[in-house]
Amino acid sequence: MEKKASHFSGQLGFVLAAAGSAVGVGNLWRFPYLAAKDGGGLFLIVYLALVLTFGFTLLVSDIAIGRRTKQSAVGAYTQMHPRWKFLGVLTFLVPVLIMTYYAVIGGWVTKYAIIYLTGASEAAAADNYFTGFITSPVSPVIYALIFMGVTALIVYNGVQDGIEAVSKWMMPVLLVLVAVIAVYSLTLQHTDESGQFRTGLEGLQYYLTPHVEGLTVSRFLQILLDAMSQLFFSLSVSMGIMITYGSYVKPDVNLNRSVSQIELFDTGVALLAGAMIIPAVYVFSGVEGMSAGPSLMFVSLPKVFAAMGKAGVFIGLLFFVAAMFATLTSCISVLESITANCMEVLHTDRKKTVVTLSVIYLAASAVIALGYSLFYFEVSLPNGSTGQLLDVMDYISNSVMMPFISLLSTILIGWVTTPAFVIEEMESSGHPFRRKKIYVVMIRYIAPVMMFILFLQSTGILS
Ligand code: PFF
Repeated sequence: MEKKASHFSGQLGFVLAAAGSAVGVGNLWRFPYLAAKDGGGLFLIVYLALVLTFGFTLLVSDIAIGRRTKQSAVGAYTQMHPRWKFLGVLTFLVPVLIMTYYAVIGGWVTKYAIIYLTGASEAAAADNYFTGFITSPVSPVIYALIFMGVTALIVYNGVQDGIEAVSKWMMPVLLVLVAVIAVYSLTLQHTDESGQFRTGLEGLQYYLTPHVEGLTVSRFLQILLDAMSQLFFSLSVSMGIMITYGSYVKPDVNLNRSVSQIELFDTGVALLAGAMIIPAVYVFSGVEGMSAGPSLMFVSLPKVFAAMGKAGVFIGLLFFVAAMFATLTSCISVLESITANCMEVLHTDRKKTVVTLSVIYLAASAVIALGYSLFYFEVSLPNGSTGQLLDVMDYISNSVMMPFISLLSTILIGWVTTPAFVIEEMESSGHPFRRKKIYVVMIRYIAPVMMFILFLQSTGILS
């Protein structure tokens, strides 16, 4: 099969593609928000500790399973234990769901990049601009279809000529853009109407200082859970994506070093995103101005860019281009994972599979893009929030399925195949698996308990 011939050219290609999947809107619109909300430096410390233990465990597991079985989720879990095929199918369903809405978000980002490119950014800072845009029945659909089409084209070109080729230049450029904006943010200063003078450096200090005043046990637990759910969404684990990417890694690649580099890239961009967004928002509206998700990216930030004056048009453009690269490389990984599973299960070739999936997902993206106009409805979700069509898909995939899948996969690896299944693969290239002890303790004991608590919390059972 063509799939068997698919490989990343080497470690660098693999790391940048995997980092491309990991670095997405989660780094840009959720990490800074959580850091500002959850005690600045305190959140950072908790998050970093989790990256090195918990995130590391899940990432190692997915990638090693992929390379060892040379299959995507469905085939991989079946090969690990035939009775656990259901877990493969469940894992496969996560990108299937995510794919319905990711291109819609990509479309929004593209629209904003174009607004800043054409110098129409003043309008974007107006109060109801974003709502006006997404509730239109035409424009968001067109942008979603364009974004979906570009994603499909890249995946159609294959692992090395499509995914790797794109990630290899987009990811370094993204890193530079985020770093440049972060440095600029730190130089900002502003006096608001009430005469309050604020600087970017004060904002940075707020971001980095661990705020432990009045910390209670239950608040700490909340911070821990926030950091944990952010972490595994951010690393794209437990959704089969890293299994698929792992299956394309050549046998001589050092997986230990690759995993460390992917963690470093993803966490580095998250930290820089905080350093670029928190000081900027702080200077112009105080940290109370921080919100999460689309409203941070498409409502608050355009106002911040507008407040920067002329420079804001340029900074805004750099920001939305970076966001576009982040979203595109993530979207590619979602479609690739679905494609690879279909190719293996149905024994079809890449080109036919991608074309068929494109038709399905162009239609699905259009439906979701119309979720704020034609198909508008509101539901209350079990975790207490209210959502529309896109939020429902997001909630099922990220809050319900991902923790549940993680929980089951830690049990499968920890107790059924035993951790040796993963450890042997980590050592198969002849390099030592340095964090082996932590891995075993995490996968057998700590991760299952943490995943269970996270599952109860995000489904609203524990509240
Ligand atoms: N890891 C991405 C982020 O942090 O934004 C999000 C993501 C990418 C989620 C790919 C799911 C996915 F399949």
